[in-house]
Amino acid sequence: MMAARHLRLAGAPSLSLDSDELARDYERISATRQFQSGQRLAADLDIKPGERVLDLGCGTGLLAEHIAERVGPDGFVLGVDPLPLRIEIAHSKRRNNLRFEVGDAYHLDGIADGGLDVVVMNAVFHWLPEKTAPLLECARVLRAGGRVGISTMLKGQRTRVHEIASKVLAEPPFNSFPRPRPQLAFPVTADEMRAFFGMTGFVPSLIEVCESTRMWPSPEAAIRYSEVSTFGNFLGHLPPELRGRARIAIRQRLQNLMTADGIVHHGRRLVAIATRR
Ligand SMILES: C[S@@+](CC[C@H](N)C(=O)[O-])C[C@H]1O[C@@H](n2cnc3c(N)ncnc32)[C@H](O)[C@@H]1O
Repeated sequence: MMAARHLRLAGAPSLSLDSDELARDYERISATRQFQSGQRLAADLDIKPGERVLDLGCGTGLLAEHIAERVGPDGFVLGVDPLPLRIEIAHSKRRNNLRFEVGDAYHLDGIADGGLDVVVMNAVFHWLPEKTAPLLECARVLRAGGRVGISTMLKGQRTRVHEIASKVLAEPPFNSFPRPRPQLAFPVTADEMRAFFGMTGFVPSLIEVCESTRMWPSPEAAIRYSEVSTFGNFLGHLPPELRGRARIAIRQRLQNLMTADGIVHHGRRLVAIATRR
C-alpha cells in the first residue's frame, strides 16, 4: 500500500474540493475526452502484452482499464491518483492485472526501483506545479529503457471558456475571493518539456504539438467540464454560497460563444514520449 502523502507546493490545485458528484461526472464526461487522448497516447507508446505500467494520475481508471487490456494477463497496470473519491470509482474496474491506489506523483514511495516498463500521465502533467520531482520519481520506478508518455496542456492555450470565466470572477462580488493564482494549471511549452526530460534522465523520442478540438453542447456543459476536470478547483476558491451565482454569470456570458455546433474550441496540446537512460 502506498503512503498517501501530499506535498503542498505553492499554488498547487486543492485536492480537497472533489465530491462524489464531481468524480461520477468526470467518469462520464472524460469517456469522450481525456480517455480518447489517453488511448492515442497508449498507442503512441506502443504498450505491449506483458508490460508493467503505471498510470500516474489515473482519475477514475478508464485509461488504466484500457491499458490493462493491452498488456493482457501477463502484464500489470497500477493506477495511482491522489483523489480518494476517484480511486473509489476506479476500484470497480479492479481485476487480476489491474490495481488502484491513492498516491501522489511526488511520492511514489510504495513502488520499487526499476520495476516498470511504462509510466503514463494523461491530462496530469499540467497539474504538477513543479516538474522535475515527479519525473525523477518516474525515472526511479522505470527500468533502463522504460518509457514515459505524457499528454498535457500546452502553455498559452487557454480556452475562451476559461478566459470568460476569469473575467467574470474578476468582477464583484466574486473578486472579493481571488484565486490563489490567475491560471489553475501549470502547462509547459515543447522546449520546456524537452529541458525537463534532459534534467531528469530521459531521452525524448517524440515531442509533438497536436491539434485538439473540444465541443460542448451548451454553456452548462462547458462549465461542468471545467468543474469536473479541475476536481472542483474551477469555482472552489469561492464560498459555496457564491458558486451558484458564478455559474449563472458565466453561463450568461458563454451564450455569446454558442454556434450551431455548440461551443467549439480549436486548440493545441502537447504529447511527449521519452526513454529512461
Ligand atoms: C484531468 S484528470 C486526468 C485523469 C486521467 N489521467 C484521465 O486520463 O482521465 C487529472 C488528474 O490528475 C490528478 N493529479 C493532480 N495532482 C496530482 C499529483 N500531484 N499526483 C498525481 N496525480 C495528480 C488528479 O487527481 C486528477 O485525477
